[in-house]
Amino acid sequence: MFNKPEHTAMRRAIELALQGGKKVFPNPRVGAVIISPQGEIVAEGFHAFHGGAHAERNALSQAGDVRGCTMVVTLEPCSHHGKTPPCVEAVADSGISRVVVGLTDPNPLVAGEGIKFLRNRDIDVEVGLLKEEVEKLNEIYLHYIATGRSFLHLKMAGTLDGRSAAADGSSRWITGEESRRKVHEFRRSSHAVLVGRGTAVTDNPELTARDVQCTEEDQPVRIVLARGKLPFDLKLFNSSGRTVVVTDHHGDLPESVEVWQGIDTLTQLLARTAREGLGLILCEGGGSLAASLLRERLVDRLSIFTAPAVLGSSGSPLLGNLEIKSIGDIIRMANITVTRIGDDTLTEGRIVYRAD
Ligand SMILES: NC(=O)c1ccc[n+]([C@@H]2O[C@H](COP(=O)([O-])OP(=O)(O)OC[C@H]3O[C@@H](n4cnc5c(N)ncnc54)[C@H](OP(=O)(O)O)[C@@H]3O)[C@@H](O)[C@H]2O)c1
Repeated sequence: MFNKPEHTAMRRAIELALQGGKKVFPNPRVGAVIISPQGEIVAEGFHAFHGGAHAERNALSQAGDVRGCTMVVTLEPCSHHGKTPPCVEAVADSGISRVVVGLTDPNPLVAGEGIKFLRNRDIDVEVGLLKEEVEKLNEIYLHYIATGRSFLHLKMAGTLDGRSAAADGSSRWITGEESRRKVHEFRRSSHAVLVGRGTAVTDNPELTARDVQCTEEDQPVRIVLARGKLPFDLKLFNSSGRTVVVTDHHGDLPESVEVWQGIDTLTQLLARTAREGLGLILCEGGGSLAASLLRERLVDRLSIFTAPAVLGSSGSPLLGNLEIKSIGDIIRMANITVTRIGDDTLTEGRIVYRAD
C-alpha cells in the first residue's frame, strides 16, 4: 500500500523526470524524491542527459542523513555498470529503508535485478505506484527496449474532406497559424523530422523549429528519404544543422549532407535512427511516405490537424494508398484526444493495428 506522501512524491518525481526531455535517450526519463519518515520531501533529483548522473544519485547527493527515509523513484534503480555505477549500491549504502518504484525496468540488463538487490539488502521495495503515468512518461524508451526502433510520430494536416494540397500542388497554408506553431513544438521535442522526396521538393521546407524557443542543440536532425535526385538549392541543404539523405544514389548532394546507404526498408531506417540516438522521429509526410509507414505498421502516434475547409476531389488526398479492401480492415485510433487549435481541430492518438 502506498501512502499519501508517496503519491505526492511520485507526482513530483514524474514532473522532475520530464525535465530530462529528449536528451536522455536511449536512457529512460527518471525522477527520484526522498521523503522523511514524517512524509516531508528532503531531496530530489532527475536524470538530465544521456551519460549524466542518474536520478537516484542526484537526489542522494542533495540529501544529508537519509537513514530510515523512503526513496520514491519512477523507474527501478539500475543494478549494472553502464556509463555510471549501479544506483542500487548507492541507495542501499545510504541507509534508505524503503523504496517505492513506479515501473520495473524492462531493460534486460536490469529487469527486476535492481529490486532483488535492494530486497536482499533488507530494504522494503514496493512497485507499481502511478504505473500508467510512468509508462506514458517513458513511451519512447519502452518502445525502443521492446522493438529496437525509434518511436514514429506521424503528423498530417488537411481539410475536412481529407485533402492536403490543391490540384496545382499548392498547400500553404491549409491550417492556421496556431496549428503551425504547434508543429514547431513537435519539431523541438523530436530528435529528427522525416519527409519523403515529394515533400522536400514540392514544399522546399526548412524543417527547423521556429516561432518557439529552441536552442541550436535542440534543433531536430532533418531526414529525407529519396531514391531519386534532389535539387542542390533545397532550403534543407542551405541552413545550419544536421541533414541526412537516405539514398543509394550518393552523387550530386552537397558535402554538408550526411548520406545513409543500404537502408532498404522503413523498419531498417527506424532501427538505424535508434542506433544514432534519435529516439523520437516526427514524420511530416507527404501522403506517400505516410501511407507506407501505416501499411508497414510503423506509426506509433498519429496527429492530424483538420482545417474547416474543403478542396474537393481535385485536391491531393491526405494519405496515399493504404491497400484497404474491406471496411473490416479500417485503421482506427485509440486513446484519442481532440483539441481545438484556433479554427482547426487536432485529433491525436495511437493506431490500433488489426491482429492478423
Ligand atoms: N498536409 C500535410 O500534412 C502534408 C505534409 C507533407 C506534404 N504534403 C504535401 O504532399 C505532397 C507531396 O506528397 P508525396 O506523397 O509526393 O511526397 P512524400 O511522401 O513526401 O514523398 C514521396 C517520395 O518519397 C520517396 N520515398 C522513399 N522511400 C519511400 C517509401 N518507403 N514510401 C514512400 N515514399 C518513399 C519516394 O521518392 P523516390 O522515388 O525518390 O525514393 C516517393 O516518391 C506535397 O504537395 C506536399 O505539399 C502535405
